[in-house]
Amino acid sequence: MSIDVRTEKENQPMIETLALSKRFGPTVALHEVDLKVYGGQIIGLIGENGSGKSTISSIIAGMLPATSGSMRYKGEPHAPRTMIEAGDVGIGMIVQEQGYVAGISIARNIFLGVEKKFRKVGFISRKAMNREAGGILQSIGLGEIDPGMLIDDLNIQDRC
Ligand SMILES: Nc1ncnc2c1ncn2[C@@H]1O[C@H](COP(=O)(O)OP(=O)(O)OP(=O)(O)O)[C@@H](O)[C@H]1O
Ligand SMILES: [Mg+2]
Repeated sequence: MSIDVRTEKENQPMIETLALSKRFGPTVALHEVDLKVYGGQIIGLIGENGSGKSTISSIIAGMLPATSGSMRYKGEPHAPRTMIEAGDVGIGMIVQEQGYVAGISIARNIFLGVEKKFRKVGFISRKAMNREAGGILQSIGLGEIDPGMLIDDLNIQDRC
């Protein structure tokens, strides 16, 4: 399969996959896919369930390794081993699925994994955590939201 959507101005793709293949055991999720995306484009991958849209996006974003084939980003080889490596060159993936932990506060969700930052004499200072989370919410225009509230009580669009 080959997909090439280009504008006249740009001849070097921003991101390119070359004969990219991915197998999950006996399942061939991607078979030698050549995808080219040029700077300034917004493209949509449309295909039936299981056609490989998430798989190719995940490989580009470093969440999954390819089975074979290669990628180039701005003309350079692109083979991220982790999402962090992909993020370092400016590639990220925003997923539709819920990316939070239910049953805990907004502040605790923001600081998941880095709670020790707020440790005081062996305890996590909720007050300090809520204060810092409040500042973050403020900076993204959600200053009216109480960071101490259960994330489950937030409406869906604010949760995302
Ligand atoms: N982690 C996995 N383990 C095994 N098989 C997988 C895995 N992820 C995807 N697959 C298989 O790879 C193929 C492509 O799946 P993929 O999720 O990329 O499709 P999709 O186009 O994103 O589908 P949808 O429209 O449902 O999101 C499917 O056959 C799927 O079952
Ligand atoms: Mg998908």
